[in-house]
Amino acid sequence: MTIAVDKATAPVEGNQGPTGSKKVGIPREVAPGERRVATTPQTAQRLQKLGFEVLVEAGAGAGASFSDDAYRLAGCQVVADAASLWEQADIVLKVRPPQDHPDLHRHESELLKPEGTLVSFVWPAQNAELLQRLADRKATVLAMDSVPRISRAQKMDALSSMANIAGYRAVIEAANHFGRCFTGQITAAGKLPPCKVLVIGAGVAGLSALGTARSLGAIVRSFDTRPAVKEQVQSMGAEFLELEFEEDGTGAGGYAKTMSKEFIEAEMALFAEQAREVDIIITTALIPGKPAPKLITADMVNSMKPGSVIVDMAAEQGGNCELTKPHEIIVHDNGVTIIGVTDLPSRMASQASQLYGNNLYHLLSDMGGSEGHHVNLDDEVVRGALVTYEGEVTWPAPRPATPPPAPKAATPETPTVEPTKAGLPLLKVLWPTLAGLALLGLGLGAPSSFLSHFTVFVLACFVGWQVIWNVSPALHTPLMSVTNAISGIIIIGGMLQLSGPLTAPTTILGAIAILVGTINVSGGFLVTQRMLKMFHR
Ligand code: NAI
Repeated sequence: MTIAVDKATAPVEGNQGPTGSKKVGIPREVAPGERRVATTPQTAQRLQKLGFEVLVEAGAGAGASFSDDAYRLAGCQVVADAASLWEQADIVLKVRPPQDHPDLHRHESELLKPEGTLVSFVWPAQNAELLQRLADRKATVLAMDSVPRISRAQKMDALSSMANIAGYRAVIEAANHFGRCFTGQITAAGKLPPCKVLVIGAGVAGLSALGTARSLGAIVRSFDTRPAVKEQVQSMGAEFLELEFEEDGTGAGGYAKTMSKEFIEAEMALFAEQAREVDIIITTALIPGKPAPKLITADMVNSMKPGSVIVDMAAEQGGNCELTKPHEIIVHDNGVTIIGVTDLPSRMASQASQLYGNNLYHLLSDMGGSEGHHVNLDDEVVRGALVTYEGEVTWPAPRPATPPPAPKAATPETPTVEPTKAGLPLLKVLWPTLAGLALLGLGLGAPSSFLSHFTVFVLACFVGWQVIWNVSPALHTPLMSVTNAISGIIIIGGMLQLSGPLTAPTTILGAIAILVGTINVSGGFLVTQRMLKMFHR
């Protein structure tokens, strides 16, 4: 079903640009400490290419180092008065959910044009009252935090783009409060051991954090309830900690599910052990819509070395550490710093704004740009993000219907017949029989010297095939060195056979051995070169 939001986007007298295009408004964020802006000059240009006219409140980009002039240069109209900007915009793009405007003394939801569109973080589960306000205003509201995490929506996934930046910043904050180097060093004045980092939860933020800590030279370990992330953790050079406990934490939509009490106890025992050893703990464990599980107890904090740091990224949802104070940085009695700040992406405002702006751009582009702007309720992404529409609260979106079970392959009437030898297809027995007969013929007719070589050859083929086939892809490079060495020996063997007339069977076989061996060696080098090129920056 496709519903055109004519009411929401209908021209309002005096508000329409000269071309009749829809107006996108970017207000200044009023939440204390928020430095991000919903659109950078670069994204504003892309929005204009979608046919939108872009209005920016004066000073909106200042916190993210984007001046009003930069927006003007990008073709935006800079509006000095916040109320006028909200009034003019058909679509308002924001970062933080609407709140009381400190200068205008009105709630931002009331500043939105009646039946206007708002795209922003909304956190509908925590903001029921705000949803009702927006619904009463007949606003069309798309919550960026509710965009479903499906492959098609990755480019609009603002939670992931912000978590990625937050994970990076968490390590930088930890480094700032940790009085030592991350990387180990051997200097003339003495040896510095590398710092040990434990990352709990290897989702988007966790993977970003462990990648950053690794690149700073730390020894990194990680734990997650979803075994599926093990390879990702290892591929980034970190160690994946495991429990001897059979329980998979993979829930619906790529998120985690709540674990049993026994599992949580077992993982906490692991963390207690790790806390005594590591210098930095970064916790990101979360199940969407649930309070963060308490995984780091006061006793664990007490067991950590003075000067250690905990960054609790789940602070906003209550925190993974018992002692975390949301929004604050505290130093515990034993000298362990616990960072509970909740504005990590805002501390990297310029890049965070760029990524968030791109997420918004992709959403508006998928919704048809300025000309064809519409709410398609059949679009899984749009429906997932839509939280109020036509005066109704439309959150949460209905779960997509589960597909009917696949029909059974065999009909009940078909009797199952045990396969008998007589029923086997002819080809299945024909080839082994022919091969057997050929081997028998060889055994009876060929000289014994040939037979011993032939047996070694067949065994070598069989063992070689089995060995190469069963090597895990991660070991292909060392495997290639070994096969290159073997090929080298084959080439030398081939050279030794190159004596006598050119037509002699040993000379021909020797030439073939040299050819095949050379192909293998040079092919190996070519593939290695191509692989190395993939990692060139
Ligand atoms: P995510 O859902 O991708 O990752 C959470 C991970 O925790 C998942 O891999 C899950 O399997 C794991 N997990 C859940 N329960 C666990 C348990 N008991 N033990 C171990 N692992 C467990 O979430 P994402 O996007 O990576 O965000 C992580 C956290 O960072 C969230 O709490 C989010 O709100 C927070 N965040 C904080 C910011 C800040 O400024 N402080 C900014 C952005 C995100």
